[in-house]
Formats: sequence, C-alpha cells, structure tokens
Amino acid sequence: MMTSSSSVSSSTCRSAMRAAAGVVLVVAAALCLPAGTRAQLSGDYYESTCPDAYDIVKQVLVQAHQSDTRIFASLLRLHFHDCFVQGCDGSLLLDSVPGMPSEKTAAPNAGSARGFPVVDAAKAALEAACPGVVSCADILAIAAEISVELSGGPTWCVLLGRLDSKTSDFNGANLLPAPTDNLTVLQSKFNAVNLNDVDLVALSGGHTFGRAQCRFVTSLPDRLYNFSGTGQPDPTLDSAYRDLLAQRCPVNGNASALNDLDPTTPDTFDKNYYSNIEVNRGFLNSDQELKSSPEAQGTTAPIVDQFAGSQDDFFAAFAQSMINMGNIKPLTDPSQGEVRTDCKRVNAS
Ligand code: HEM
Ligand SMILES: *[C@@H]1O[C@H](CO)[C@@H](O)[C@H](O)[C@H]1NC(C)=O
Ligand SMILES: *[C@@H]1O[C@H](CO)[C@@H](O)[C@H](O)[C@H]1NC(C)=O
Ligand SMILES: *[C@@H]1O[C@H](CO)[C@@H](O)[C@H](O)[C@H]1NC(C)=O
Repeated sequence: MMTSSSSVSSSTCRSAMRAAAGVVLVVAAALCLPAGTRAQLSGDYYESTCPDAYDIVKQVLVQAHQSDTRIFASLLRLHFHDCFVQGCDGSLLLDSVPGMPSEKTAAPNAGSARGFPVVDAAKAALEAACPGVVSCADILAIAAEISVELSGGPTWCVLLGRLDSKTSDFNGANLLPAPTDNLTVLQSKFNAVNLNDVDLVALSGGHTFGRAQCRFVTSLPDRLYNFSGTGQPDPTLDSAYRDLLAQRCPVNGNASALNDLDPTTPDTFDKNYYSNIEVNRGFLNSDQELKSSPEAQGTTAPIVDQFAGSQDDFFAAFAQSMINMGNIKPLTDPSQGEVRTDCKRVNAS
C-alpha cells in the first residue's frame, strides 16, 4: 500500500542532480523523478539560473519564524490551497482585480489563510538575486518543504519549474476541502486532483502543527454543543477534550480564538496528529472522519492506524504525497503562464 519514500534533503537533491549532469543519471532519476510524475518539473530546475534559490527562501523563513512560531504551518497550508485550485500555479497569491476576485477572499481563505507577507519577502529576496526567474508557485513549494523540515518533519526533493497563472479562480477556491466534509466528500475532492486515500490521510497529517479558530469546531455541525442538531456533542469527540475545547470556545465566545491543531506538540511536525485521532482527539470533523466514519473501515482507518504506529511510515508517505500534490496540473506552458515579478499581480503586458 505504501508508496516509496523520497526522503532526500533538498541539498542532496541538488547535488544528486548535479551528478546527473555527469553520468549517474539513473540514480538521480530514482531520487528526484519518481515514476509516474510528469517530467516537466525537475529537482535542478534553477540550478544554473538561480542556484541559491532554496537557501534564499530558507533564510527568509528562518527570519520570519523568529517573531512568528506559527509561520511554518501557515506556509504549508498555502501550498495546499494553491495546488488544489487550478493546480500549483500561484493563483492563490493574486489580489483581486475588477472582474477577477482573489482566491484569498473565498470562504476557505478569508480571515484564515496567512503568511502572504513572508511569501512577498521571499519573492523580493529572489528578485534581488535572480530577477524574473523563480516563480511564485515554486516559492510556495520550496517554502512548504523548508517549513516541514525545520519543524522536525521529513525532507524531500522539491520538484520545480512551475509557471505562475495569469488568472485566479474564486469559485474553485470555495470548493476546497471543508472541515465539515464527511469522508466520502473528502475522498472525492482528493480523487478529483488524482490523490488517493494514502495521500488524503498523509497530507491531513499537516494538522500536526498550526492553529485553528473556534468557528471551525462550533459552526455546523457544531462538534461541541449541538452536533448535527442532536443537542449533544459529537459522539466521536473525547469528552475530556470536548470539555477543554468548550472552555476555550464558549457559546457566544470569540469565534476567531485560536487552538492548537495538535495540543500535544503544537509546533512540531510528528505523528501525534494520528495518535490524537486514535483517542478521539481530532480537532476538525474532517480529521476524525478519517478514523471514525463508518466508511473509514477498510479504507482510511487502517492508514491512520499505520501512521499512528510508525512515524517513519508517516514521514515517507508525507514526502511522497507532497510530491504528488505538487504535481497537480503543473503550469509549464509559457503561452499560459509567466514568472510573476510581484506575486500579488500579473506582470504588466
Ligand atoms: C483534508 C482536508 C482539509 C481540511 C478540511 C482542512 C481544513 C483546515 C482548517 C479549517 C484549518 C484552520 C484554519 C483557521 O482556523 O484559520 C486548517 C489549518 C491548517 N491546515 Fe488544513 N485542511 C485540510 C487539509 C490540509 C492539508 C492537505 C494540509 C497540508 C498538507 C493542511 C495544512 C494545514 C495547516 C498547516 C494548518 C494550520 C495553519 C496555520 O496555523 O496558519 N491542511 N485546515
Ligand atoms: C456525505 O456528505 C454528502 C454531502 O453533504 C452527502 O450527500 C452524503 O450522503 C454524505 N455521505 C455519508 C456517507 O454520510
Ligand atoms: C440543536 O439544533 C437543533 C436543530 O438546529 C435545534 O432544533 C435545537 O434547538 C438545538 N438544541 C440546542 C440545545 O441548542
Ligand atoms: C479574538 O481572538 C483573536 C485571535 O486570538 C484576536 O486576534 C481577537 O482580538 C479576539 N477578538 C476579541 C473581540 O477578543
């Protein structure tokens, strides 16, 4: 069931690709171009045009993290919200223009998606070093890997070479997976972008760090107070955890108050997301569904069990699934895309 690991650090990825320029082509291909991926993206895409791109982004992220411990989680989420809408093309980053509302204003992003100034800072640093070379879509892919790695998670070879879109898709952004979705809906939203049950469970492990607002647990179906109109809390929610969340998220309280998605290790990338779900301490309905839905038996529940039991298995699967997610409809046709100089707007024609 498990796909093979691509746990190669990005520096290894780059030196492996450098070697590929010589003779070790087969080895590098195994490391950096997993079978089945479309060959447009590559680990060494900026090797000659912006060799320090990875390190430049890393420096900006390390700096940002000094005043914002949440930033790594926020940046991982941006790559997910970019890739699921129109493919990984930086469409999420565009501001609204007349006739084309920004994806940032769609329900799953408004008042929730964050980290955009850090993306802009990375872009500015890259423009200073190699003007017009590194796409905003690739910045999100690189930032996601660095964020996971610096939080204690796996490393992988980030495939690069995406172009940025000239359009955003507000309606598409409204169809992003929702915290209220049941397992069947989550599976179909992932299947629609060629991701399977292993990808769904592994990528949901992104909720091992970061924060979530009270409104995502108290709005319908209201897991804390009146689950789907039953007058009772969600029966798949551990009662002690429910009481804790009820203190943090009282009726008529601040719907924007923040909670740790993983209260055991809030800022560390580890397998505790799955250990929490095993004891009915998933925060979102969509988290607990992976284990507790009747439809999870024989599908996603065994994968949750596996990752709860083995951090190595989780890390290997997460790395592969991030590559799979990064391969959603990569925009590589120069007649369709461009390298934006400002991630917030398309280049002047
Ligand atoms: C499976 C469907 C998913 C749903 C329904 C979902 C939903 C959510 C929601 C509602 C939040 C809280 C946002 C807020 O309170 O402002 C959140 C946060 C987060 N999500 Fe997901 N998510 C899903 C999948 C993913 C995936 C695939 C990733 C990345 C691989 C991811 C990474 C994150 C991270 C890191 C945070 C914390 C962000 C922060 O602290 O700024 N999520 N998600
Ligand atoms: C999941 O949700 C969809 C949409 O609300 C609904 O049509 C479907 O019946 C639900 N499936 C299950 C198994 O609950
Ligand atoms: C729970 O929700 C249902 C349906 O919306 C409503 O009729 C009922 O009064 C609510 N119960 C409580 C205790 O709020
Ligand atoms: C609600 O919580 C958010 C997040 O902690 C905070 O920024 C905001 O000021 C709070 N609002 C009120 C009215 O307390």
